[in-house]
Amino acid sequence: MCGIIGYVGKREALPIVLDGLHRLEYRGYDSAGVAIHSGKGIKTARAVGKVAMLVEACDGKNFGGTAGLGHTRWATHGKPAEKNTHPHTDCTKSFYIAHNGIIENHDELRDELRAKGHTFKSETDSEVIAHLLEEEYRIFGSFEQAAQLTLQKIRGTYGLAMVSSYEPKKIIAARMGAPIVLGLGENENFVASDASPLLSHTRTVLYLQDGEMAVVMPDSYFVTTLDNKVVERGSETIEWDADKMQKGGYAHFTLKEIKEGPEVIENTLRGRLITENGLAKLGGLQSIEAKIRAVKRIIIVACGTALHAARVGEYMLEEYAGIPVEVEFSSEFRYRKPMIDVETLVIAISQSGETADTLEAIREAKRKGATTLGIVNVVGSTIARETDVGIYNHAGPEISVLSTKAYISQLAVLALLTVFLGRQRQLSLSMGKRILEELETLPPKIEKIFEQEQKIRKLAKRYAKYRHMLYLGRKYNFATAYEGALKVKEASYIHAEGCGAGEMKHGFIAMIDKAFPTVAIAPSDSVYDKMLSNIQEIKARGGRVLVIASEGDTRAIKLADDTLTIPKTLEMLSPILAIVPLQLFAYYLTLERKLDPDRPRNLAKSVTVE
Ligand code: F6R
Repeated sequence: MCGIIGYVGKREALPIVLDGLHRLEYRGYDSAGVAIHSGKGIKTARAVGKVAMLVEACDGKNFGGTAGLGHTRWATHGKPAEKNTHPHTDCTKSFYIAHNGIIENHDELRDELRAKGHTFKSETDSEVIAHLLEEEYRIFGSFEQAAQLTLQKIRGTYGLAMVSSYEPKKIIAARMGAPIVLGLGENENFVASDASPLLSHTRTVLYLQDGEMAVVMPDSYFVTTLDNKVVERGSETIEWDADKMQKGGYAHFTLKEIKEGPEVIENTLRGRLITENGLAKLGGLQSIEAKIRAVKRIIIVACGTALHAARVGEYMLEEYAGIPVEVEFSSEFRYRKPMIDVETLVIAISQSGETADTLEAIREAKRKGATTLGIVNVVGSTIARETDVGIYNHAGPEISVLSTKAYISQLAVLALLTVFLGRQRQLSLSMGKRILEELETLPPKIEKIFEQEQKIRKLAKRYAKYRHMLYLGRKYNFATAYEGALKVKEASYIHAEGCGAGEMKHGFIAMIDKAFPTVAIAPSDSVYDKMLSNIQEIKARGGRVLVIASEGDTRAIKLADDTLTIPKTLEMLSPILAIVPLQLFAYYLTLERKLDPDRPRNLAKSVTVE
């Protein structure tokens, strides 16, 4: 997601901060900014686009100064625009902050601060932090105390770096849910959101833990808790090289992004669950809540992985919200004569928010009078802007061409939307509650799946020799079969075919022999017995079968040649778990075939042409 770099020492700060921002570029961002303490006051520059644009914006300006902050922003609240770019400041321009994460109570804090006379210049949740610092400093006259009190007032996640014009040689950093690392040098110290911008200066680091705040000066630093208890923790030495560091220590972005799954689900759900009332809070839909209540039919348009998410959403929405749903390839939607009226809601699902076919489908739907809703990851993207209302995924930037973490976040958003629409209709309080409670259990369940990584690696070794594979699933995991196969095709170039298990007998079964293995997604759900029959049919024809089964299942495991398990969950949420071992399987198949999973041939991350 966003990146932070801070420097305080004896050297000129600006080149160090700009170099740090370059090294943070891999994280994905849409704008960047710096705030440098010149010794007399703080000077800033901000630019939308690449760090190179920020470097241009800084050119010719004499910043001076040996302390400062830089930030690369990935929009979450407010579109990519200069006014939304960090560092943000208060009314008196005495405090500048760079923030990663989401402040959940920003609305109420902004109202309180406005009532006290503060004016806000950005649409971000982060800006409240700068105004809170101003407010607390006015009372206590201490940067540290103002920071502590500010941190006690904000709720949500943050990796935070703050500077004050009152203290030219100090950076205060804090962590709650978003990483902050201190880089410790000779007569200079650093603050960053990960160690990659530090490696060219120092390998001695100290990672903050949640609820800790660090006061960093050129020759010293100290760490406290938010209630001012001193934290004693030794530093560590980093052994990784810079390339690995950018990928968080993983060999590829694909693996890093799969492993971000638990955090992604937490971020997608954050602030959106009103579990006690069985309600989903989707701020983006508030403005048209009444219109949405009157919706009689839903069409979901999407491409590729997002289309598979849509197919899962179709089952969720029909079963629990009771609304008829059709899923359409965006690329076909425009060329049909879709029956649309004012009671039709057209949902576009798109990670990038720029996919040309999906965008055109939305434009066509609007022309015909539909209400449009975007489920989009990239804030401020064209689809996010052109749809009437939206729900952001908050999955963070997806760098690998393979969509992995965005997919599970799309499924989580669809589950939230199902609860939202369902509770406007017939969905009971207890079922609404049950879905939300179960959603919250998913992050540790995904972690549990990761425990099988070595087994998956070994299986990939065995299956990499095959030239073709069949993926089978039913009902909620019908789409998992297609998505699992797509991952394999895209990255390993093994021909993998998704198939609804019920369709298998209508043709596909002719292909089965010992050179054509099957991956069957068969959790213990309402179609489990039918899946077992399909597995038996394949076994009877000499096909090898790898089964994705629920933990504790014995029947499927007995039938299968190979098994991977997923923890039990609600049937409607099982695709969120079932895809995870399949993503890892595709990743390791790709490595076995000595290919680069991050950059498959012929594919682009964002398909902006038809
Ligand atoms: C698959 C993949 C593609 C995208 C598709 C839609 O791994 O990345 O199939 O899912 O191109 O892209 P978005 O979601 O950006 O509209």
